[in-house]
Amino acid sequence: MVPRLPVRDLTSRMLPTSSRRQLSTSSKTNAATTETRSTQHPPPGKRKPLTKEQRDFLSSALRVNQAGELAATLIYTAQTPVVVARHPHLRPLMKHMYDQEAGHLDTFNALIAKHRVRPTALYPLWQVLATGLGWGTALMGREAAMACTEAVETEIGDHYNEQIRTLLEMVAEWEADGYEVGPELRDLISTLRRIRDEELEHLDHAVEHDAQKAEPHWLLTGVIRAGCRGAIWVSEKV
Ligand SMILES: [Fe+2]
Ligand SMILES: [Fe+2]
Repeated sequence: MVPRLPVRDLTSRMLPTSSRRQLSTSSKTNAATTETRSTQHPPPGKRKPLTKEQRDFLSSALRVNQAGELAATLIYTAQTPVVVARHPHLRPLMKHMYDQEAGHLDTFNALIAKHRVRPTALYPLWQVLATGLGWGTALMGREAAMACTEAVETEIGDHYNEQIRTLLEMVAEWEADGYEVGPELRDLISTLRRIRDEELEHLDHAVEHDAQKAEPHWLLTGVIRAGCRGAIWVSEKV
């Protein structure tokens, strides 16, 4: 059994010094940091303690990812009966995408429990909105249901890419400073890459299944994408 560690403990072993989100590493100036870097050599295997900002980044990343994956499972749960009743040949595709989302949700449920990250306080709201979005788009038709997946996965793919880039920059900087990165962070990055690839696979499936024939495609995807960005922004904070 894996010991339950607060995020503080996880991240103090996981994370390096800075990121593209410009997570601060200390109160030193850049010049002072550069000077320190060129003269100090941490002992082999040494891991750098995290700043509060870095710990907060990790907590908020796990929280928003879990909320997003919950929403994804609820969208497919609501869409599938309606879509499959009218288009039985889509049953395997809908099941495949749902199963992958359920796997993503399991992954983030385990991570937030392990690291004692608080789930988003708006969980009930996202449940209602995601179910409504799935049901509503399915009623509009197969193309609209696929356009929903296209819009959601476009935003979610970007979202995961941003997290991956941030973490890779942290790793690069940590390694440049001579610190040990540790398996937790490397595992997290490879998990995010795998999930990102599966989301983009859903995006491709949706486009192959006529997402762009939804009417009006621009309005539907525009509204859903804006909604996703808003939900991500809020869930990172609340
Ligand atoms: Fe997912
Ligand atoms: Fe997805």
